[in-house]
Formats: sequence, C-alpha cells, structure tokens
Amino acid sequence: MPGLEALWPATPAMALAVMKMGQCGGAPACPVAAGAPRTTRKKKNNNMLKVIFDTDPGVDDALALLYLHKHAQIDLIGVTTTFGNASVESTTHNALYLKQAWGFAAPVARGADGPLQPEATPEAWPVHIHGHNGLGNHPVPASLDVAADARPAHQLIIDLVRAHPGEVTLVAVGRMTNLALALQQAPDIAGLVRGVVIMGGAFHVNGNITPAAEANIWGDAEAADVVFTASWPVTAIGLDVTTRVEMDRDGLNKLATIGGADAELVRALSQDYVDFYLQAGHKGMVVHDCCACIALTRPELFQFERASVRVATDGVARGMTIPKPEGLAFGPSVWDGHVVQSIAIGVDAAAVLADIEQTLKV
Ligand code: BDR
Ligand code: CA
Repeated sequence: MPGLEALWPATPAMALAVMKMGQCGGAPACPVAAGAPRTTRKKKNNNMLKVIFDTDPGVDDALALLYLHKHAQIDLIGVTTTFGNASVESTTHNALYLKQAWGFAAPVARGADGPLQPEATPEAWPVHIHGHNGLGNHPVPASLDVAADARPAHQLIIDLVRAHPGEVTLVAVGRMTNLALALQQAPDIAGLVRGVVIMGGAFHVNGNITPAAEANIWGDAEAADVVFTASWPVTAIGLDVTTRVEMDRDGLNKLATIGGADAELVRALSQDYVDFYLQAGHKGMVVHDCCACIALTRPELFQFERASVRVATDGVARGMTIPKPEGLAFGPSVWDGHVVQSIAIGVDAAAVLADIEQTLKV
C-alpha cells in the first residue's frame, strides 16, 4: 500500500548491528551452515536467455532469484548486489547464502554501497519490511563456504556483457547504481545487451516511499535516470502492476510443499514480509521482483505502454518516474531524443502466480 514502506525506523548502523546479532555463527540450527556448497546445474541449451540479476536480497529478491535459478529457459550467468533493502554487506552476504543453499553456479559480485550522489538520498534500511538482516530476520550463518567474485559488480556486468554480445538481459530489482556505473565506465555495453528489465517506478500510481517515488528509484534517482535514458531497451515493471500480484499464506505454503527444500527456505524467510503486506491491506505478500523476471519469461502476461521516461532528481517529486507516451505531442523537453521504453500497465496476476508455482515445482 503506497506510503507505508516509508516508515523506516532504523539507521544503517543499527541495522548492521542487529543483523550481526541475528547471524547464527554456523550453529547446527542454521539452515545452511557448513559443508561443501551444493551445485545444481541445469542442462543448457541454445535457446536459454542469459541473465545477470542485479539485486538487494531482500525477501522478494530471494523468491525472484530462486525463480531465475529454477527456470528451464534461464541461464543465470551473474548475480550482482547493491544496497537497498539492507547494506551492501548484508545483501552480498545474503546472495552468497542463497548461492550456497540453492547451489547456483553464477558468480556473485558485490556492488555499490550507496547512490551516485550520496548527499541526495538519506538512506535507512527498511527493517520493518525485510528484517534487520535483509532476509526477514531468518538466521543466516556468519560464515559461508562460497565467496564473492573479486570484481566489483559493475565490472562483472561489463565483462559478461562484452563476452556475450547481444545475448545478455540485465534484470535489475534494486537501486540501479551498478548499471549506471557500468554504463559510465563502458558506454559500449548499451549496444551489446539484449535488453534490460527493471523492477522500479510508479508510472500512473503513487509511490511507496513518497507519494511520488518507488523505493528502487527513490534510492538512486540519478542512476535510474541514467538507465532510462541510455540507448538500450528497458522494460519497466513498476508498482502499477507489482502491487496487484499478491501471494497469500496459503499460496506460499503450497509453494513450499510443491517446491521442496529450496522453496521451503523462501517460505521460512518470507513470514514477516507476509505480515507486513497483510497489515498494509494486501491479500498477501507482494512479489515485486519476481514480476520483473516473469516479464522476461512470459511477457504476454503483461500489458505495456510505450514511452520515453525521465526521473525527477530534484524537489518534492524526487524519484518520480514520468513517462512521455509515444505519439503524444508536447513542446520541446528533456524527454526528446531518448529511447522509447516499455512500461507495464497491466498484468494477469493469477497467471503470474501460477507461473511461479509451475517454475518452482520439483
Ligand atoms: C522494491 O523495493 C524493495 O522493497 C523490493 O525488493 C522491491 O525491489 C519495491 O518497491
Ligand atoms: Ca529488490
């Protein structure tokens, strides 16, 4: 529900301190504590879509990551982390924890620890939504058997995109700082990606941080404007559609039953997140980030409008995503000359939820 995600009670330092307290230090009760990392490899084929997942896990990020890992037509070639739902230390640790738990092979690279212009956006972690550790206060071992890639996230993005020209889709479901840094350092990647799908924005609805701004955009409005105006095709999955895709507790329990241990982990770490959305008036947890993944695998489940997009970077509307619909005439403006992007304005929510079940089923 718009507005309620803005109730951020903790400072980053407090959140980090509690996150450390919440880690279980490799105790036997930890779900994934020790031993060799699992690796579950999918049989690859030439029709698979190569994906780099840029993420801030994040409860709904975790479900999205499992969706990408499980999907038969997705070749997950990289996971890059950013600050957002928690500090980048926490989100990177969480991504590595999920890599160890689920056994995906893709490298995990740590990304930006703050926005392009840190002074513009005071950040406090949304502990009331994603918990003190970013994974719903689910116990995460302090010590893991997998390590992050040595490269910063933006460098991994550049390397992978250049290694697979025309093949890679960037799916970005957090602040878009890593993508903006990659573009700044290597503008050629704009012409080398297959596409970019983002979870972010509120195009014809209110935001969830301010009346104008959605969290992933608000958290680095400058980076989002860079991403929307680069010469690459962006598909934007914003609150206009994600808030309509609600997984209730029965749905989550069913997912854990049909999806085995991997989905059970999602069920376990999502409990407080479900509570948050129920208290906010939703029928269940909003699966924001998974919607972006499904817009890639099942675009027919969404309706899109075509528009060039600019992001307000100043004033009361900071973080607002403002579309200029294709074909409408205006006077000269800062929207002129930019790529026309695809913005989701409709969704078949039942079909999206069914697709998640189908994909996670073992
Ligand atoms: C976005 O912000 C985070 O809470 C979620 O992970 C999602 O990416 C929704 O506004
Ligand atoms: Ca996210």
